[in-house]
Amino acid sequence: MARITFHYSGQIKTVETGHGKTLLQIALDNGIPMEHACGGNGFCTTCMCHVKKGMEALSPRNDREENMGIMDDLDRLSCQAQVNGDVEIEVVEY
Ligand code: FES
Repeated sequence: MARITFHYSGQIKTVETGHGKTLLQIALDNGIPMEHACGGNGFCTTCMCHVKKGMEALSPRNDREENMGIMDDLDRLSCQAQVNGDVEIEVVEY
C-alpha cells in the first residue's frame, strides 16, 4: 500500500493506493483534477507534477519523459510515473 499526497488548487488530499498505478490514474480515481490532454500517453506535458517527497518511490523516467525535455529533476509526467511507495506531489496548474 502507498500513501499519495496531492497539493492542488490550495487543497491537500492524501489517498491510499496499491503499487503500480500512475499518479494520473490515482488522481483521477480520487476526484483530483489533473489535466491530461493526450489521454495519458506521454505526449503533452499537461499532467506535469512537482515531486515534493518520495521521488525514490516512483518508477524511473522512461523514454517518453526523457524525450519531453523536462528540465527540473523534481518534475515528472504524472501519466508515466508509477508509484511503489509514499509520494507527495504538487499538481502543476495551467
Ligand atoms: S497526459 Fe499527456 S503527457 Fe501525461
